[in-house]
Amino acid sequence: MAEVTINGVARHLAADPDMPLLWAIREELGLTGTKFGCGIAQCGACTVHLDGVAVRSCTTPLRAAAGRSVTTIEGLQAGDGLHPVQQAWIDEQVPQCGYCQSGQIMSAAALLARIPAPTDNDIDAAMRGNICRCGTYSRIRRAIKRAAGEGQSNG
Ligand code: FES
Ligand code: FES
Repeated sequence: MAEVTINGVARHLAADPDMPLLWAIREELGLTGTKFGCGIAQCGACTVHLDGVAVRSCTTPLRAAAGRSVTTIEGLQAGDGLHPVQQAWIDEQVPQCGYCQSGQIMSAAALLARIPAPTDNDIDAAMRGNICRCGTYSRIRRAIKRAAGEGQSNG
């Protein structure tokens, strides 16, 4: 049994504590916005926030989340409005197939929470572990800058 706060709600999970957090999120809680890509912490599709820090939920055991706060893409929105990163993603029309995008957004949101005005190097460092097979990287970068308030749209 693990008690984990998921998107602001305390949840009691009876699953094996060694279960990947990703499976607990998707299979136990039915929150399927977080995706499985590689299962070995190499693609970023499964990114969620653990106490506000971006982590790969495919290689994070449920036990590591016990007593802590997890935010998934479903819980990123604050109140009635979209998270600024979500709005910027819409404004820049970032997704193509969409599969990687919840992980991209979660990594970007964690970056901006830590560094409100990131440099290109900051963005590279924070996002390099999030793979997009559709190659949306330039739009991801523009959206992060837009969300940071720079509103850049070149490139
Ligand atoms: S599924 Fe977790 S990093 Fe790829
Ligand atoms: S939008 Fe298709 S993998 Fe990123």
